[in-house]
Amino acid sequence: MRSIVVTGGAGFIGSNFVHHVLRNTDLTVTVLDKLTYAGNVASLEGLPPNRFTFVRGDIADDELVDELVGTHDAVVHFAAESHNDNSLHDPAPFLQTNVIGTYTLIEACRRHGTRFHHISTDEVYGDLELDDPERFTESTPYNPSSPYSSTKAASDLLVRAWVRSFGLRATLSNCSNNYGPYQHVEKFIPRQITNVLTGVRPKLYGAGENVRDWIHADDHSSAVLTILTSGVLGETYLIGADGEQNNRAVVELILELVGQPADAYDHVVDRAGHDLRYAIDWSKLRTELGWRPRFSDFRAGLEATIAWYRDNEAWWGPQKATTEARYAAQGQVAL
Ligand code: NAD
Ligand code: DAU
Repeated sequence: MRSIVVTGGAGFIGSNFVHHVLRNTDLTVTVLDKLTYAGNVASLEGLPPNRFTFVRGDIADDELVDELVGTHDAVVHFAAESHNDNSLHDPAPFLQTNVIGTYTLIEACRRHGTRFHHISTDEVYGDLELDDPERFTESTPYNPSSPYSSTKAASDLLVRAWVRSFGLRATLSNCSNNYGPYQHVEKFIPRQITNVLTGVRPKLYGAGENVRDWIHADDHSSAVLTILTSGVLGETYLIGADGEQNNRAVVELILELVGQPADAYDHVVDRAGHDLRYAIDWSKLRTELGWRPRFSDFRAGLEATIAWYRDNEAWWGPQKATTEARYAAQGQVAL
């Protein structure tokens, strides 16, 4: 494998992956990204021009996708509409990009025999009770809750069907919640960090009891690279890093790390259909492919992420007011 297409490479995890690949391999990378509100070419600054090309375009553009897929050895597919709150207010782009876009890519990969890796989410499995001793595994039944997670589930099932019916050379991964640099300020952790940096109180949905299983984006990247190079075709791998935290604890830790009182946040109206808890059992990835996360200390990872947002206001500043205006228009009010 010498060249890969990374869809959604100007987004949060895609851009982290591109940096990771260019730092750690000899591969050449072409990013295909539509630059929606969530894409930012500034996340790809400073990459080596002899190994990196950026193409602005839509993954549902059949002609463009066919040309790129036919001239590269593999596709790593991150592009998606990714935010649950947006999907509750306007599901249409989620159907178009997550379902039709994925279909367009796998049809092109089928035509050209190109290797495909599909990036997905633990949200396809629904949620767990707070005291459930079980975690999600590769055989947990699908039970998505939101328009976002149901379109991701649909895309996973398309890839699995293309593997079985057409011999698509594909692997899949379902990862838990990522944090780290270059994450859009609509998402929980960067929203609260940039709130406190701009003198606004963090916003916690409902009581803040919901649990997410946090993993650093660089660990997600190393796991995907491991699956791309050593994974078994047709297999699904869950990616996680034993990072369960409830939302209130995360907000309180952010406040502590910036030297503010632990109760300096607001509760706002809860998300409709809000999943209670996600938790990943990633033992298949460990035992079969020998992968391990590097960022096991959430506090240290969060501290580094706060420092990144403090140092990179030019990157997130332009998104902040528009994002908060969108939340206000969606009726998000303090309780
Ligand atoms: P993001 O919203 O930050 O980035 C998405 C990128 O895709 C953007 O650059 C956007 O411009 C691009 N894009 C959107 N529609 C497109 C289209 N039609 N054609 C081409 N490009 C398009 O998302 P993210 O948080 O980086 O998530 C990336 C992938 O990882 C998604 O598939 C998501 O489901 C999955 N995932 C995310 C998380 C997480 O915690 N963020 C966890 C597990 C899995
Ligand atoms: O589990 C993987 C998923 O993680 C990915 O598939 C999604 O693309 C990604 O966005 C993320 O989904 P979540 O809905 O878990 O992430 P979000 O950052 O939106 O919210 C995390 C938790 O924080 C969730 O319980 C809702 C809560 N929250 C969120 C925001 C934006 C708040 O309490 N306040 C907020 O302001």
